[in-house]
Amino acid sequence: MLVNKSISLPELMQFMTLAVYVAAAAKQFGRLGALYQQTMGAAERVFEIVDTRSDLPDAPNAIVLKNVEGRVECQNISFEYNTGEPVIQDLSFNIDPGEVVAIVGPSGAGKSTIADLLLRFYDVDKGRILIEGHDIRNIKTVSIREITAMVPQETILFSGTIAENISYGRPGADISEVIEVAKAANAHDFIQACPNGYETELGEGGVGLSGGQRQRISIARALLKNPKILILDEATSSLDAASEGIVQEALDRLMKGRSTLVIAHRLSTVKNAHKIYVMDRGRVTESGSFDDLMRAGGLFEQLYKTQFRTQEAQ
Ligand SMILES: Nc1ncnc2c1ncn2[C@@H]1O[C@H](COP(=O)(O)OP(=O)(O)O)[C@@H](O)[C@H]1O
Ligand SMILES: [Mg+2]
Repeated sequence: MLVNKSISLPELMQFMTLAVYVAAAAKQFGRLGALYQQTMGAAERVFEIVDTRSDLPDAPNAIVLKNVEGRVECQNISFEYNTGEPVIQDLSFNIDPGEVVAIVGPSGAGKSTIADLLLRFYDVDKGRILIEGHDIRNIKTVSIREITAMVPQETILFSGTIAENISYGRPGADISEVIEVAKAANAHDFIQACPNGYETELGEGGVGLSGGQRQRISIARALLKNPKILILDEATSSLDAASEGIVQEALDRLMKGRSTLVIAHRLSTVKNAHKIYVMDRGRVTESGSFDDLMRAGGLFEQLYKTQFRTQEAQ
């Protein structure tokens, strides 16, 4: 066009300059998408911390439990996170000392909420929860947390060594105790196989552990804490069949002599519970022993048969 004289040299220069600017701006625009994604990711993590549950204040004359046997009574409790959306409705159950009580039910039924209420992360709206015969609102929160331990579905490990992660269950425990509980939790062998054994760093920049290994660290932690009341919230549900067996064996050792609340959606894991409560949408729909429930032929029997068939097919 310059040769044809349809544009002048200054016009060409103007066009070139503008084109460079426009191209650069367009490129920036493309980056915006990635930046947006990054920001959203970071914001999510910030909100996770902001949303972290903080403890409810202790009552002025709250007590510290002594000589705990492990008795839990939930009496007609109701609870909602948001007004008008009941999550737990008029629910009752008891755990006698040393007993294994299971709660089963579909996802969203309110099972994990019960665990949170027992640990007093929230207060019930109606009814009451008693530990050793005392309303938990009259017990110091540290006292509740001291006598209970929870093995959740996904164990949170801290950056720090494996030994530190286990002794989080009882700070100040010495290494021989840590090794003892790790053995009972079927964790000793894989820990020894780690580059620095018990001193191996975990977390960011450290060694990554499999789901089953993390659960066994969590079990070792709970063993070290030696609680009277144990809560297992779908503790094996994210594991494959091979690691489930070895984790279940460790759990059986952990449960011995403790009052245990087993929350499960895999019904085969609750066969040996003393009592099973079937929950749906915040209510208990059936309860009894495994045999009782199978005989009754209700929701439990249906769920069991469906799960059994799917497991066979796998
Ligand atoms: N922190 C929360 N805030 C509001 N709603 C929640 C919260 N936690 C759970 N819920 C809701 O409560 C109901 C029961 O959840 P949950 O106790 O986790 O069920 P489950 O463990 O049986 O799958 C669900 O509808 C869930 O969306
Ligand atoms: Mg849950």
